[in-house]
Amino acid sequence: MRIAVFSTYTYDEAYLNRFNTGHELTFFVLPLNEQTAALTKDFDAICIFVNDTVNKDVLAILHENGVRLVVLRCAGFNNVDIAAATTLGIPVLRVPAYSPEAVAEHAMALILTLNRKTHKAYNRVREGNFSLEKLMGFNLHQRKVAVIGTGNIGRAFCNILRGFGCKISAFDIYPDQELAAAGVTYGSLEETLADADIVSLHCPLMDSTHQMINADSLKLFKKGAMLINTSRGGLINTMDVIAALKHGQLGYLGLDVYEQEGKLFFQDYSEDVIQDEMILRLISFPNVLITSHQGFFTQEAMEQIATTTFRNIDAFASKADLHNQVVIG
Ligand code: NAI
Repeated sequence: MRIAVFSTYTYDEAYLNRFNTGHELTFFVLPLNEQTAALTKDFDAICIFVNDTVNKDVLAILHENGVRLVVLRCAGFNNVDIAAATTLGIPVLRVPAYSPEAVAEHAMALILTLNRKTHKAYNRVREGNFSLEKLMGFNLHQRKVAVIGTGNIGRAFCNILRGFGCKISAFDIYPDQELAAAGVTYGSLEETLADADIVSLHCPLMDSTHQMINADSLKLFKKGAMLINTSRGGLINTMDVIAALKHGQLGYLGLDVYEQEGKLFFQDYSEDVIQDEMILRLISFPNVLITSHQGFFTQEAMEQIATTTFRNIDAFASKADLHNQVVIG
């Protein structure tokens, strides 16, 4: 099949070329959106990532251009209008799981860095400053961690937390019985947020979870708690989180995702004037750590993404069952 691959960097090309099962791939660095959708003419399929936009308008252009398939190189599909794709008869296939440990380990990396301030210590020591002033952290052992969403990633994260000796409380609309049997305490969202030292988000972005962390829910947090979001930026209201950081209700913030990341993440703006006031405000806090959506970025995950993507394309090409199709409901 002729496939237009959007939002690609050197690492995407390397892994997709390595695991290609015989398709004609054309790589575009550009993201797919209303402005770039015209590039899809004469392609059979498009292959996209987290910050490509496949809304109703883009789908109409894809359909007109003869595109018959959308394949996502990720698990989340909040950037695709599934209902509109279904109406047009364009299946949307995704990679439902790729090394959940990669994201879970990154969430723990954010926690450890924010808490023990290793990023600051690294810079201090390089400048000959061996002072410990303002580097004090806290033990994770026996601390209470709230895990919101205990699917593939949340489960892997709980298992890491168990190794650290944390007390784990969780909220999921479908509690995991194995985790409950292993000592994870499930409760309502309000109960779970209430007395946690650390809150980590691992549920998908949907209408029901959009901005679930907002001025009201932040009031439930223990004063000075740490919030970690490696899931999707839209789960939190960033302005409300900034306000909570300003008056100390939130003690630490670790983000791998950001509401407006589409305009920034994966690009080098080191020589430009960044226009996004919210991210500039976030960067200015000493207790905020931001990474640009790199939770998934391990060798193992890239290999799984590439192999599953081609398995999905091959299934469509050979009219086999589409196990990884995103369906409404
Ligand atoms: P999953 O589908 O295995 O698990 C999601 C869990 O969230 C399920 O147990 C589900 O029941 C639960 N859930 C659904 N609605 C909920 C609600 N309203 N409240 C609480 N829990 C709810 O998904 P997985 O693989 O664990 O991924 C989770 C999210 O992580 C993805 O949706 C994606 O947004 C994000 N992600 C981030 C990556 C990164 O690089 N930072 C990479 C991969 C995924």
